[in-house]
Amino acid sequence: MSSQSPQQFSQSPVGTARRRAGAKPHPICRVSELPPGDRKIVEVRSRSIGVFNVHGEYYALRSLCPHQGAPLCRGAITGTARSTGPGEIIWERDGQILRCPWHGWEFDIVTGRSVFNPHRLRVRTYDVTVEQPAQEEEDPSVESFEVTVEDGWVVLHA
Ligand code: FES
Repeated sequence: MSSQSPQQFSQSPVGTARRRAGAKPHPICRVSELPPGDRKIVEVRSRSIGVFNVHGEYYALRSLCPHQGAPLCRGAITGTARSTGPGEIIWERDGQILRCPWHGWEFDIVTGRSVFNPHRLRVRTYDVTVEQPAQEEEDPSVESFEVTVEDGWVVLHA
């Protein structure tokens, strides 16, 4: 976990995700530290939460399987097979499906919904944004130069 305080990330989001009431920003890592296809599992407010980079978009899920409580976010990141007709099966959604490590139930990383029973089973999701830290007050007596920050922070709102 970084040493940045949550208050430093309360403004100027690059991402546009809406935020749940009461959620606080928790900087997780630099963008470069969470490449596409990877995940980071963090402890926030006594909850284990997985933050995923799915093809350049960030999502977060509670790491608690609704079946029997497995650490869901430690499971395999995969896709899913779908039948398009008799004898026809296609592989789709590669990198968007999370398979529980205990009994193999699968969940959509984007929505938190179960693949086999999406209307009744789901995992709690959280908002994730990419943000730049708030700039400190400038000292007018010091000559300053324009700086661009190209590697923002992945911030979990939980
Ligand atoms: S605990 Fe996750 S599928 Fe059983």
